[in-house]
Amino acid sequence: MSSLPVTERSNPLTANIDISLPEDIVSLLQHCDREIFHGWDNQTEGQKDLDQLKGLLDGRTIRLVEKIAGEVANLLRKPSDNLIVLSGCGTSGRLAFLTARTFNKWLRELDMPECFRYVIAGGDKALFTSQEAPEDDPVLGAKKLQEVCAGKKKVLYIGITCGLSASFVAGQLDFCMDNLDTYIPVLMGFNPVDLAKNLPIENWSKTILEVCKRLENLQKTKNCCIINPIIGPEPITGSSRMKGGTATKILLDVMFAQGFSLFKEKQLRNTEQFLETYLTVNEAIGHCRQYIGAVINLAGQCLRKHGHIYYIGADSLGILAMIDASECPPTFGTSLDGVRGFLIGGFDELRNQEGNISVLGRHFSIAVDDFQSTILPNLQNSDIVIFINHGSAMNTSLLPLLATVQNGPAESAVIHIMNSEQSGQEKMKEVPKTTNKITVQLPWIQIQELFGPEHLDLSFKLFAEIATKWVCNAVTTGAHIMQGKVYQNYMVDLRVSNNKLFHRAVRIVETFSGCNKEDAQEYLLKSIYGTDVLTGQQTTANVSQHILQATSQEKVVPTALVCAILKCSLLEAQKHLAEEPVIRSAITSCLEKKNVE
Ligand code: F6P
Repeated sequence: MSSLPVTERSNPLTANIDISLPEDIVSLLQHCDREIFHGWDNQTEGQKDLDQLKGLLDGRTIRLVEKIAGEVANLLRKPSDNLIVLSGCGTSGRLAFLTARTFNKWLRELDMPECFRYVIAGGDKALFTSQEAPEDDPVLGAKKLQEVCAGKKKVLYIGITCGLSASFVAGQLDFCMDNLDTYIPVLMGFNPVDLAKNLPIENWSKTILEVCKRLENLQKTKNCCIINPIIGPEPITGSSRMKGGTATKILLDVMFAQGFSLFKEKQLRNTEQFLETYLTVNEAIGHCRQYIGAVINLAGQCLRKHGHIYYIGADSLGILAMIDASECPPTFGTSLDGVRGFLIGGFDELRNQEGNISVLGRHFSIAVDDFQSTILPNLQNSDIVIFINHGSAMNTSLLPLLATVQNGPAESAVIHIMNSEQSGQEKMKEVPKTTNKITVQLPWIQIQELFGPEHLDLSFKLFAEIATKWVCNAVTTGAHIMQGKVYQNYMVDLRVSNNKLFHRAVRIVETFSGCNKEDAQEYLLKSIYGTDVLTGQQTTANVSQHILQATSQEKVVPTALVCAILKCSLLEAQKHLAEEPVIRSAITSCLEKKNVE
């Protein structure tokens, strides 16, 4: 079996995504997303190297979802004594936050105390900006978990790490396994356990694989489990914000909504049907590919002109757009200004643990009011403002802003997420005809059948959220592809800001230059330390020291890659990249040059 985790492999479906048209990018992403449900056809050079290929619709996953739903129902019977904690890093932590927020709202509707909590590596700062160094710290993870759970009798802990690769989560799982009287540990990720990260962790005695194996053994006799359907490689290699994030959100939503129904109605809905409804939403995205493609095209042109993408939205749909924006700097190596999201009501609406953290800087100002005061007056024709709207009629509080944007120099678009009964033309009249409009129709009848009349609004939201995630992910991925940030289906200009990303960077240099792993690492270190001759100290430093040096630097991986392909000095590589700032073209021309020689 290849030792490369599935979540780090390149997906053959998207091998040419970098040269695809916007509309085709949407189709490719949508097809790739189908693997979340049906599993992945692991055909490598005519051979399958893994047995476990089933996605979310697999019987084992469904049974586990129902088992966890049973635990949720039990804990909800004493919500003041118990806690359901969701924890993760980056996107996994942001989705943990959003899910906790959603289901606390369900509890409030039932007049019950809130008992969902989230933990995100790096704290609430990480909800909007990448804070990747804490992801490597298992001790910090365990400490943060204990802080949240102090005084609770029973805790269902769900640690999310798509790649089974986050030390922060491993530290928490290990702590839970030492305290099974209080904790019910669940690990959620999308690799087979044998492919969990097996590298030494600085200042810790175990590897993540060892922690996963411990849990795997323990689940035979104790109340704990691993839920790890194999959903196939990401469309942009390693970018677990996409399929990994989607699968995370769907699994959490289904297990908690099922937990609520078991608690209230004493019975489960049909879990398979529940999951299949998400698949219908995926098909609805495919039906809109032409319109999503048009918005990608506009957004891509803006980025090519060094402009910006701004999302404006309300409630959880606005939050999902903000999450999408926050992932762009680490994923595409862009600045914090490139893509930003704003929410009606700002922090009051967000309901995050640390409250209003806008004092931390302008990138933490998230209210639509902030957009109006600081960004609106400076909009250019290289910017696009994308409004996310729930329902057919435009949110009335956004109508004046929409009108102002449309009368200004920037491009605009409106994404309507609505049920299929709301899509009549006359109901759309509030949105001016000139607007670029995406209308995603959710399977209303199917959702009604699934949920019945009660809490229909809340449950409808779950599907609207996933539709928003799919559209926003497609827009930013497509726009950055148009900007030339992606080579084949690899994001080459990633920031080397944690252990996982360091090793991914080495692999990228190795893959495209054809050199061996040791040489690839040496080229990367030369680029990180800005030297053609490494000192002994630099070569032998810990990965965490390399990361510290690399995190704030630009174009670390492209520089290393050009050096490795052309066997040239750093200065020559930097000159090449300065002459050809579009990463995709820089690499292509390098490889052509090499082939000629
Ligand atoms: O640190 C980089 C990153 O890839 C984030 O962008 C991502 O959301 C996070 O790691 C989480 O990864 P995982 O869920 O595999 O732990």
